[in-house]
Amino acid sequence: MYDYTQSLIRSETSRGKVRQQTDITLRGQVWTLLPDVFSPADSKSSLAHLGLLEFPVGGAFLEVGSGIGLIAVSAGLAGCRAVWATDLNAAAVKNTALNAERFGVADRMTCVQGDLFEGLHEAPLFDVVYWHSNNVWAPPEIDINVHELAYVDPGYEAHQRYFREAQRHVVPGGRVLIALSSRAGRAELAQLAAAERQRLITVDSAVVEEPEGPVVYELLEVVPL
Ligand SMILES: C[S@@+](CC[C@H](N)C(=O)[O-])C[C@H]1O[C@@H](n2cnc3c(N)ncnc32)[C@H](O)[C@@H]1O
Repeated sequence: MYDYTQSLIRSETSRGKVRQQTDITLRGQVWTLLPDVFSPADSKSSLAHLGLLEFPVGGAFLEVGSGIGLIAVSAGLAGCRAVWATDLNAAAVKNTALNAERFGVADRMTCVQGDLFEGLHEAPLFDVVYWHSNNVWAPPEIDINVHELAYVDPGYEAHQRYFREAQRHVVPGGRVLIALSSRAGRAELAQLAAAERQRLITVDSAVVEEPEGPVVYELLEVVPL
């Protein structure tokens, strides 16, 4: 299993750089970043996963764990009719709303705080439900802050709930997706999915050079058994 303390160090390094609202540049576009929110400027994962994703143009898209809103806002810009973005971290919800305004897609976006699907009482069913997850395993009893929770999932408890609950939020024929990296415990996640009568199927992947060596970023579909 990947050494989760490496992810906690990456979180602390990234978090320590941001004391107030700031701008970051991603592929030539300027985005707002708030303190305590996962920064796509400090991880190659967000842009790599964005590159693997096809949005349901004209349809409804849900992003779980939206962070600064890079993917949810991109869904709005790509032509999704309705985009919902949710995050456990209240600062991330505010950050996504700020970027929705900044990029002119606030009219088609709804940003809510909640643990996975908790804040979605008024939501429609979605064509695509997506989570670029905190897919590094950490011990269940670990005491971590909200920024670290963007990197690691203690005991994979949230992943198990995602595998249990996500299908309830898609239209018939809709897709549940999850974006993982090679730092994730793939065998453990496949087992947790199977326990919820789901399996994980690779849709696409990309290899990115990182200081630790090549990292594989992978888009998977969660499909009922
Ligand atoms: C790896 S970051 C991805 C952020 C953003 N989507 C991006 O691509 O830059 C994972 C995100 O999931 C959120 N998250 C972690 N656990 C969650 C949960 N149980 N419910 C909702 N969001 C969660 C974190 O706060 C974080 O914003």
